[in-house]
Amino acid sequence: MSAFIGLQCHLCKTMFPALAIYVCDKCLGPLEPVYDYSAIRVTREEIAKRPKSLWRYRELLPIEGEPRTGFNSGFTPLVRCDQLAKRLGVRELYIKDDSVNHPTLSYKDRVVSVAATRAVELDFKVLACASTGNLANSVSAHAARLGLECCVFIPDNLEAGKLLGSAIFKPTILAIAGTYDDVNRLCTQVADRYGWGFVNINLRSYYAEGAKTLGFEIVEQLGWRYPQHVVSPVAGGTLLPRIVRGFRELRTVGLVEGELPRVHAAQAAGCAPVVRALEAGLDYPELVRPDTIAKSIAIGNPADGYQVIECVRETGGSGSAVSDAQIIHAIELLAETEGLFTEPAGGTTLAATVDLIQRGLIPPDESIVICVTGNGYKTAEVVQDRLAAPVRLSRSFKEFESWWESRGFAAEVKS
Ligand SMILES: Cc1ncc(COP(=O)(O)O)c(C=O)c1O
Ligand SMILES: [Zn+2]
Repeated sequence: MSAFIGLQCHLCKTMFPALAIYVCDKCLGPLEPVYDYSAIRVTREEIAKRPKSLWRYRELLPIEGEPRTGFNSGFTPLVRCDQLAKRLGVRELYIKDDSVNHPTLSYKDRVVSVAATRAVELDFKVLACASTGNLANSVSAHAARLGLECCVFIPDNLEAGKLLGSAIFKPTILAIAGTYDDVNRLCTQVADRYGWGFVNINLRSYYAEGAKTLGFEIVEQLGWRYPQHVVSPVAGGTLLPRIVRGFRELRTVGLVEGELPRVHAAQAAGCAPVVRALEAGLDYPELVRPDTIAKSIAIGNPADGYQVIECVRETGGSGSAVSDAQIIHAIELLAETEGLFTEPAGGTTLAATVDLIQRGLIPPDESIVICVTGNGYKTAEVVQDRLAAPVRLSRSFKEFESWWESRGFAAEVKS
């Protein structure tokens, strides 16, 4: 059912077999799946009848047999946000809400569903990853369900909720003294030596394709049309270029028409290698040492930084780097206006959107989709001290009444 043919180098276009390989041995470019688009004849109506998961676009996903996991992952809500739109002074605004992705509450359930299925097809016995937290949660959950050994590598300074979200599934957790970039370097060596299936290293070509489904869903949920702007967070740089790739593929197979959206990159000012490169007119980001509360997107050496920069430029998008204070303010704004609770990655994306609107880079009368990719319950510590404590009372009605009336409200007596 898939039109998947094999892997191809993004830069020099050399073809490779569909194995656990991810870099071109000729030019070191990243490898990406290729499909026979002419063989894809699926219609909007057929897709509409399929189960509401990321596998409804399986013709455009790089697996050979049947999906093995992620049967409820993806197809997250596209929430029309009129209250927030009013606050920002824009006309048509949506949140693509991957903070409620199944089963681990982040966009990573998309990429892991595809990578884990491919890991089973390629006969890996150990599923592993280098992670800033959310990926480890998702790999741990999907590995548990598939009965695979699991080993996740994380920096040793993650939030308690991120650690809990992996530990409950009983993987081996390695908390490494260092940044994500140090963790990733170690994992590359482990993957080479032990032959484990690292979803974001040797299975990266498959993993990244799962992220396209977020773009597919935006188009389908808007009634098979493109929005005019999409704002995406950027860490390793998987998501943003795959949203664009997904948008292009839908047009190639005839499911949508029109002009591609402008796709904008959101980063925290304390870790903004891609936004700085866009500002400086560079093709490749320069490495930075992260320092931000947005730990899930604190990647100073993004694997796909080049592709993010390429896609932002090609679509006419731009970049925005926002401070930790702006991130927290945006988390609160989203909660107050729309009843959605995101983690700092989502706060970053909303804060960047506000900045792009203020700078005139997103005109107020154009349609905007903001990708919210992670859940606030996992990072309670970033807002906890700012929230009102509950009013503590005894069980006595009298006490309630005197507290209520002390606030200047008299009881309304019903006749
Ligand atoms: C919540 C969240 N959003 C976004 C990202 C962006 O990752 P990437 O740019 O690698 O797709 C990550 C992961 O690293 C994440 O955990
Ligand atoms: Zn190449």
